[in-house]
Amino acid sequence: MTELVTIDLGDRGYEVLIGQDAWAIARKLAAVAPNRRYAVMADSNVLRHHREFIASGLAELDIAGTPIEIPEGESAKSFGLLEIVLSQLLERGLERGDAILAIGGGVTGDLAGFAAAIYKRGIDFIQVPTTLLAMADSSVGGKTAINMPQGKNLVGAFHQPRLVVADFRFLETLPKRQLLAGYAEIIKAALIGDADFFDRLEFSNRDSLSALHLQAHLKSAIEFKARIVEADERESGQRALLNLGHTFGHALESESDGKLLHGEAVAAGIALAFDYSVRCGYCPAEDAARVRDYFSLVGLETQLALLLGAPYSAEAMVERMRHDKKNAGGKIRLILARGIGDAFIEGAADEADLLNFLKDKTQ
Ligand code: GLY
Repeated sequence: MTELVTIDLGDRGYEVLIGQDAWAIARKLAAVAPNRRYAVMADSNVLRHHREFIASGLAELDIAGTPIEIPEGESAKSFGLLEIVLSQLLERGLERGDAILAIGGGVTGDLAGFAAAIYKRGIDFIQVPTTLLAMADSSVGGKTAINMPQGKNLVGAFHQPRLVVADFRFLETLPKRQLLAGYAEIIKAALIGDADFFDRLEFSNRDSLSALHLQAHLKSAIEFKARIVEADERESGQRALLNLGHTFGHALESESDGKLLHGEAVAAGIALAFDYSVRCGYCPAEDAARVRDYFSLVGLETQLALLLGAPYSAEAMVERMRHDKKNAGGKIRLILARGIGDAFIEGAADEADLLNFLKDKTQ
């Protein structure tokens, strides 16, 4: 069964389709603009694994033409590749009323979305996320970007897709490690603002990632994100809550030198955010323990000493956190929690205390 979540942003609003037959359902929605041409941008690895399925999906949508292949990995989010992609769109004669269809994980979606945002001053795009991470987070909400030598996602635009098609068939070939890393973003949504959702995650126990539960959990996470994006599309306030675990997580991810997947770093970062909230007196210790227990139950490591890439240096992590792009006024900005489902923005963390906390955690 395919389920549907609506992102209500007025004339920039759209639907997210979630399930097994999402491609087929997409046809009905794509009928909004029946005569437009599409340029397909697809992750080369996804194309290799799902050539026939993608071909049938494109046929469902009456889309012809060879996909523009995007190489795997974060390095594809570069100015160089963006220029190549834009040239190919020009060579294909894509017009203002045409659109891009992006098939892949967060890298493809971010690059294709940014290309769509600036090509001929902006054209439509459709996201077909193929990883759980992209389904749960990056494909929804309109953040598009490329990386710079100075850091990730430093150049980009808010540009909402016209439709998101999260078809679970793509998850069948996703390695378990990637699936788990994506699941961290689903847990994140519950921990930020929906304690009942976290109860449901705990209740589904070891079966959390079975197809039966995963679809319901993904839908809840997208519904949660939809409400936040609707209230604060351009992140001038509460959308920053979606960064729970990300300030610690980005520091770990960068320090791991490619050993940690983004979602793995975020899982450990969320556990740190809860522990730090306990230390600051904001959050009951039992809630932080529940968070760690659930991550551990599903197989996501949160002990820094056991994390891939360990040992981590507290000093190096704080240095990374000092340069986080979410900081303001020279202060480290953290998302902390008063409890499960009750995250808040701490505008100016005490650096000396943060360093001592991380020294304890990294030993
Ligand atoms: N990934 C966080 C956001 O979309 O705001």
